[in-house]
Amino acid sequence: MPTIEMTTELPGPRARAIIERKERVVCDPLDLHVNTVIDHGAGATVTDVDGNTLIDFSSGLGCLLVGHAHPKVVEAVQRQAARFSHTDFTVIPYEVYVTLAERLVALVGGDRKVALFNSGAEGVENAIKFAKAATGRHAVVCFEGAFHGRTLLTMTLTSRHHPYKRGFGPFAPEVYRVPFSYPYRSMDPERSGRDALEALRRAFTTVVDPQDVAAVIFEPVQGEGGFVVPAPDFLPGVQALCAEFGILTIADEIQSGCGRTGRFLASEHFGLDPDIVILAKALGSGYPLSAVVGRSEIMDAPGPSAIGGTYVGNPVACAAAIAVLDVIEEEGLVERAEVVGKAIRSRWEDIANEVPEIGEVRGLGSMVGVEMVRDRGTKDPDGDIVGRLMREAMSRGVITVSCGMYHNVLRHLVPLVITDEQLDEALDVLADSVLAARG
Ligand SMILES: Cc1ncc(COP(=O)(O)O)c(C=O)c1O
Repeated sequence: MPTIEMTTELPGPRARAIIERKERVVCDPLDLHVNTVIDHGAGATVTDVDGNTLIDFSSGLGCLLVGHAHPKVVEAVQRQAARFSHTDFTVIPYEVYVTLAERLVALVGGDRKVALFNSGAEGVENAIKFAKAATGRHAVVCFEGAFHGRTLLTMTLTSRHHPYKRGFGPFAPEVYRVPFSYPYRSMDPERSGRDALEALRRAFTTVVDPQDVAAVIFEPVQGEGGFVVPAPDFLPGVQALCAEFGILTIADEIQSGCGRTGRFLASEHFGLDPDIVILAKALGSGYPLSAVVGRSEIMDAPGPSAIGGTYVGNPVACAAAIAVLDVIEEEGLVERAEVVGKAIRSRWEDIANEVPEIGEVRGLGSMVGVEMVRDRGTKDPDGDIVGRLMREAMSRGVITVSCGMYHNVLRHLVPLVITDEQLDEALDVLADSVLAARG
């Protein structure tokens, strides 16, 4: 029995009416990426307000690793919401915050402490505050292709100008950007890690005094930047260089963490031991939550009340996150990420034999990206074909998202509770869609 059931064109009449109302009262920058409106979700599927059922390869931009409305998460949220939904943890503390912190310390390992926030960007902002307080330094180094959020500091750390930064300057001071290892787009893919590391080393002479640098922040696998997996020697080299100069490493695992790459942290693939790890997205399963998990002496460095916020570590979000961590463990979703990722990769590798616009299929675990180009020789990026592919897939019942500096990478953010049958069905749709997108 197929999962996908399309009973109307998209958007159907009910969705169209809601979207028209949205256009009148919701600001235009919140433009829609899919042309329907959800009624409910279950596991890897979304059913829209017109009764169409689609397979969701977007996972709420990576949040729904355990799927839509996982019964254990729903139960935990309902139970917590019925008891109390807010106090401000520093006014009246509660156990779920402490339990979640214990779980995260155990998962990340080492002598660490935790602070919880609402969004990924808020987690990044605070990770930098901890790093500055602990080192007494003011500068931050980040990478080309990075995405760290949309607040002033995190927008400054984010690489791409359009659409994220244009018109919003001046930006936060003392942020320095250097190249990231991007083997597919390196002059010499074999040297990608060494060259990018050399650029960082050079920047410490020509761009910023390393004695002023509090932290280097990186995504172990770049998300928005194109699901870019750096050369294996790059991040270990960055970590060693930082250690030389007393600079802290911050791993932004907001998109890559919680098991999506086949390890709880993507950092583990590279043998890293970051001073600070930031988690969000999948951790709260859509309930606003981020976690900064850092070495105890770093996390204890700011003074009393220097860190916090009215809503941070909301008890309902904490309860959801504890349930998410239980589900990840009980259902073996970290291991499942490898299986799902292998199926996605091997399908796209087959498709690549027929579709010359596929430049590279890459990724770690289930975090797989397909980079599309006009020409495999010149690697001229082709964002248009990705746009057409996504529209085709949507009309056939699979919701996808793209990424990449040129919007030319199809990213897979599959709920890891997806069944093998649903995965096959969705990949069949993507195979048909890419052929249709070629015209
Ligand atoms: C790696 C990374 N860092 C930070 C963020 C910002 O998170 P939020 O949108 O929750 O502020 C994102 C969001 O996509 C992300 O992927």
